[in-house]
Amino acid sequence: MTEKSDKKIHPSPEPSGGSFARERWATRIGLVLAMAGNAIGLGNFLRFPVQCAGNGGGAFMVPYIIAFVLLGIPLMWIEWGIGRFGGKYGHGTTPGMFHYLWRHPAAKYLGAIGIAIPFGLVVYYTYIESWTLAYSIFSITGKYFGIQNHQGMVDFLAGYQGKAVNGYFNGIGTAYLFFMITMILNVWILSRGISRGIERLANVAIPMIFVFGFILLIRVFTLGTPDPAYPDRNVWNGLGFIWNPDFRALGNAKVWLAATGQIFFTLSVGFGAIQTYASYLSKRDDVVLSGLATSSANEFAEVILGGSIAIPVTVAFFGLQQTRQIASGGAFDLGFFAMPIIFQKLPFGQFFGAIWFFLLFLAGITSSVSMAQPLVSFLQEEFKLAKKQAAYVVGGLAFFLMQPVIFFLKHGFLDEMDFWIGTFGLVVFALVEVILFIWVFGSRNAWKEICTGADIRIPRIFYPIIKYVTPAYLIILMGVWFWQDGMNVLLMKGVRPENYPYIWFARFVLAGILLLMVALVRIAWQKRHYIQQRIPS
Ligand code: ALA
Repeated sequence: MTEKSDKKIHPSPEPSGGSFARERWATRIGLVLAMAGNAIGLGNFLRFPVQCAGNGGGAFMVPYIIAFVLLGIPLMWIEWGIGRFGGKYGHGTTPGMFHYLWRHPAAKYLGAIGIAIPFGLVVYYTYIESWTLAYSIFSITGKYFGIQNHQGMVDFLAGYQGKAVNGYFNGIGTAYLFFMITMILNVWILSRGISRGIERLANVAIPMIFVFGFILLIRVFTLGTPDPAYPDRNVWNGLGFIWNPDFRALGNAKVWLAATGQIFFTLSVGFGAIQTYASYLSKRDDVVLSGLATSSANEFAEVILGGSIAIPVTVAFFGLQQTRQIASGGAFDLGFFAMPIIFQKLPFGQFFGAIWFFLLFLAGITSSVSMAQPLVSFLQEEFKLAKKQAAYVVGGLAFFLMQPVIFFLKHGFLDEMDFWIGTFGLVVFALVEVILFIWVFGSRNAWKEICTGADIRIPRIFYPIIKYVTPAYLIILMGVWFWQDGMNVLLMKGVRPENYPYIWFARFVLAGILLLMVALVRIAWQKRHYIQQRIPS
């Protein structure tokens, strides 16, 4: 960080858009923490270990690092650049930003995707986030203690989610209660705004995530070989599994897709959320160093904390073979199933369990508010809603749409949303923004926009990377992805026929979210046109 780190970057809000003052981040460190909170999320601690272990460990890390350099970092700079650019014109969301990048009537509608994606993510992400809060409490009370095997923990979660009736829970009531608490907290933070809500949350939550992460890391590293009867089940073999690179994986498309998808999800690029946070900068604030600091903080949390906790500890207790198997079960298998069994084998396991799940909750909430903020900003700026009103409207709409996610979970509703938004949608939107910024707005203009006010120089090699490699990579990725997974998902391969109506319903909701955002953009622009016509310039 530079000497600017802890001083106020904007003592007072600057008027923009001509009619009202936009909020600003209070301090630079607060901004970087908020951006880190935006990126660091459940993806770092639940999704990463599963993706890494399920795709060969060291084999996964090679395409992962390549995708980080060729896609992750360039997209981060592009999104910070687009965001700060839009902020100059009083726009915190991509419809307004794209409108100024490409003076074409279609631009704003493409921008509508950048509100639909983060809002769609909020609809299911917040529900998963609420499970982590519940499990933190269950760790303190020892509710799952006594369940010693993987299947038992699977049943426990299914009981909690109301998917199965078993002895652990009386229906879905407990899950609903934690969901409500989580929703109320999210809406409350959003209603307090950028500096008093989101920034203050990040100032507390991000240091806590790192402290909890380090406590868990030290605990894991001091485990050694927990069962002398199995000498190869130890922490060092777990670390070796991730860190011994396996270059053979470079020929495996599946590993590339998994690694690249993880880079998108973990850095929150292709969402539309980074742009909104960056729009609260002033036009001369640095984006290069801050964007890099955010990406580095995220990777540290992901690879060092996320990777070095869940994977080595699972290898130490279950061995390599079983760890791979557990990871192949799905995104929650290491975090929600393997870890709780391990906590029971540790002294002070209730404490370690509580901080693991609370860490997940903090990581989750700092991300979910960032995904809801684009729609909040949009309603504030384009419809002149007050901060609180906008937060309540977004919270209310999300609450309504979350009902099928909660009640149709076992029918694959959430998974369907996750594929189209959290996997495919991110790549599509990233491609749209890269084309608009680099090819329509112009690569020289885009480069100048990113470099303005920069505290460090971007190595020149990134110019051709951003101009050619990143878009080419995205086009190839989108094609291969659609061919490999998209077709199967589209044609509902492997879906049980009784779930077809639910999958169609999920698609209907997804289309509805997108159409709603397009309609809102249209109304907002019609209003603006009307106002401009009445005020002769
Ligand atoms: N980037 C956020 C995460 O990793 C969404 O969970």
